[in-house]
Amino acid sequence: MLGPPGAGKGTQAARIADELGVTRAASGDLFRENLRNETELGLLAKSYMDRGDLVPDNVTIRLVMSWISAPQQGDGFVLDGFPRTLPQAEALDSALEPGGIDRVLYVNVAEDELVKRLAGRFICRGCQAPYHAIASPPKEEGKCDDCGGELYQRDDDKAEVVKNRLDVYFEETEPLVGHYSRSGVLREINGEGTVDAVGALLVEALR
Ligand code: AP5
Ligand code: ZN
Repeated sequence: MLGPPGAGKGTQAARIADELGVTRAASGDLFRENLRNETELGLLAKSYMDRGDLVPDNVTIRLVMSWISAPQQGDGFVLDGFPRTLPQAEALDSALEPGGIDRVLYVNVAEDELVKRLAGRFICRGCQAPYHAIASPPKEEGKCDDCGGELYQRDDDKAEVVKNRLDVYFEETEPLVGHYSRSGVLREINGEGTVDAVGALLVEALR
């Protein structure tokens, strides 16, 4: 899943993984999990995440590659938020067999809508599911529908950090659109419809 912060990658990656019956990993979730467990890696990542900068490639590549090589990954998986730089994409290409990436789903959303989505977002402390105060509120205020976990706002969803995350995205990650479109696996999806409408476009793009 490729796309700017707030495009709905996390929301849709969960649905796609369920639909296909495969596992998924989000690099941001892996970092936040490390931070919750107060690992050295989590504390290091926090210093970058708090500013909205990317965690250095060597650290990120090691983390995601160790997730990919774990035995439970089976027949396939959905990756959300990785790769995000050209060196990360090259590391992934060389870790998988040739043709190992079936699709790169590029979810595109205009900048003003991204800002609105991130400002209204709440995340579950238990399972990291994203909610939105207006677009997808939980059934019971402050509580996750799936696991009952407490909902909180991410520190990096503050307006000034969001601005830097967007700048970093355009500078470092958007060039991957060209990289994957040259290899023929990229599908661009308009991410501005409802969650269900975007989900339907993504399922279509996977065929
Ligand atoms: P990460 O956690 O990956 O954040 P991100 O890419 O900025 O993406 P988000 O989680 O903000 O957005 P999303 O696209 O998943 O949207 P969501 O579904 O939640 O990364 C955080 C940090 O970790 C980075 O800044 C960096 O420091 C570090 N990091 C992570 N990966 C890295 C890497 N590979 N290399 C280096 N550093 C890395 O949806 C957003 C909101 O909109 C929600 O409230 C949702 O409910 C709502 N919504 C979703 N879909 C719709 C819809 N169709 N209509 C209306 N509302 C919607
Ligand atoms: Zn939950």
